[in-house]
Amino acid sequence: MSLSDNAIKVLEKRYLSKDENGQLLEDVNGMFHRVAKAVASADASYVSAAELQAFENEFYEMMSGLEFLPNSPTLMNAGRPLGQLSACFVLPIEDTMEDIFETIKNAAMIHKSGGGTGFSFSRLRPKGAAVNSTGGVASGPISFMKVFNAATEAVKQGGTRRGANMGILRVDHPDIMDFITCKKDNADITNFNISVGITEEFMKAVEENKEYAIIDPHYKTAVGKLNAREVFDVIVDMAWSNGEPGIIFLDRLNQANVTPALGEFESTNPCGEQPLLPYEACNLGSINLSLMIKNTENQPEVDFERIGTVVKKAIHFLDNVIDVNKYPLPEIDQMTKSTRKIGLGVMGWADLLCQLNIPYNSQQALELAKQVMGFIQEQARKTSIELAERKGVFPQFENSSYQQQGIRVRNATTTTIAPTGTLSILAGVSSGIEPLFALSYIRNVMDNDELIETNPFFKQVAINGQFYTDTLMRIIAKKGTIKGVTEIPEYLQDVFVTAHDISPEWHVKMQAAFQKYTDNAVSKTVNLSSKATREDVADVFNLAYETGCKGVTIYRDGSRDSQVLNIGKVN
Ligand code: CDP
Repeated sequence: MSLSDNAIKVLEKRYLSKDENGQLLEDVNGMFHRVAKAVASADASYVSAAELQAFENEFYEMMSGLEFLPNSPTLMNAGRPLGQLSACFVLPIEDTMEDIFETIKNAAMIHKSGGGTGFSFSRLRPKGAAVNSTGGVASGPISFMKVFNAATEAVKQGGTRRGANMGILRVDHPDIMDFITCKKDNADITNFNISVGITEEFMKAVEENKEYAIIDPHYKTAVGKLNAREVFDVIVDMAWSNGEPGIIFLDRLNQANVTPALGEFESTNPCGEQPLLPYEACNLGSINLSLMIKNTENQPEVDFERIGTVVKKAIHFLDNVIDVNKYPLPEIDQMTKSTRKIGLGVMGWADLLCQLNIPYNSQQALELAKQVMGFIQEQARKTSIELAERKGVFPQFENSSYQQQGIRVRNATTTTIAPTGTLSILAGVSSGIEPLFALSYIRNVMDNDELIETNPFFKQVAINGQFYTDTLMRIIAKKGTIKGVTEIPEYLQDVFVTAHDISPEWHVKMQAAFQKYTDNAVSKTVNLSSKATREDVADVFNLAYETGCKGVTIYRDGSRDSQVLNIGKVN
């Protein structure tokens, strides 16, 4: 196991068990043993003691070898008193004061345990609507979002991580314009990602430059009309200037709902990759693709056999997590166990491409993405079928589309692509399916010393190609790309592309390639250069829609920094 100093620091600060005085009670190996034992224990009533030990060993090997890592709450809490292991939750918000504040309390309990929450505010009556019991007027979804935000701020997740939220409002809600612009001033609502819930009707109206109906959620009646293109342009303008809101295609999410009888998707988890029904939770995990490589006759290629083996163990692991998990609410316990959703995804995709000498922005990379994720999805489902034979189908199976297809699975979903924000640091690989962000960067360490850090694969290639020098790495760090650096062979300039060398279209196409073979959704940020126009942003939104993505988030380089500067100037 080769964990970087950075990874060990993160683990010591937040993941390893400590006593009341902050003294570590375990090392990294101890953590993996703790997690493996706790998760294997779900099989205690199904297998012999020897088999149980074998499962525990398999889980330990796969994590300590950094082939697979479960989401952060599982690493932090498995085998410990808190025992809450899921990263993703969605909670309903009904249109009553009691319910709104009940949900705030529930969200606080989830944040305390390291989970993130998504909410739809779409059922709340609009600002200014009548409140019958008091004769007053309603404050509306955005004002309540600020209360959720303040509650999140106050719960610092027991010293682990600050709560993350997703806030969704349907595009046909009367307060939609206020929602789209609600993060204009960055000081507000900092603990929320926001996304507009886009309908098919809206996209059609944008295309045809027509009006669409605005619906009062309380009375469920049309109360007005808006021009779809005008609304779309404001979404684009805000995303261009601030990176938010993102958009999610609600109807498309619901087309992929395998248990519509249980309810509708109204929201996703905080980073957008996991649509969930109200009160559902999901635990995620990621395979480290940068290791899934073998050499055949000195040519590197994807090691599908090894991926297959890891998928099998990982799905078994994630399915076990559902049973050993301690859920923060009885409703969540019941709902989560009724569909048994899990989300296996990947990290280190860009690292894999570099090792195969395939540029991220190439047709070859898209084809490989489909092949790799297609294989993972197929193997994940196959494992879920095997688990169903051994342990039974998910309880709501009879009410699901799987029943109609005659496919007896244990899990209503098995694949999700998470951002792997922390997991990728622990494994020392590129995050999720994102391209490399930088090949070389300067880190300021103690006493203002500058340390050059170089991507390990690039460093190796540079040493082999005899062009590695500290000076060159400094130049690359400042430039942010190797494009046009004459010391470096041209084909390497193509292979080692970084996020900003890649046009927005390729970002979207890559997201779409993975989405095609992912049950849930894909976390991805489409990076744009600071010079990108509003039209570029609109093109990204349209392309994401056309290529079958379930949503999209953009970030234009420097847009938030300049926002802060602007605020400074005004003040
Ligand atoms: O790498 P790690 O397992 O820590 O998390 P991730 O893959 O970056 O994020 C996966 C999910 O964890 C997010 O979509 C959120 O639901 C949740 N999360 C959170 O609640 N709070 C955070 N600070 C980060 C992630």
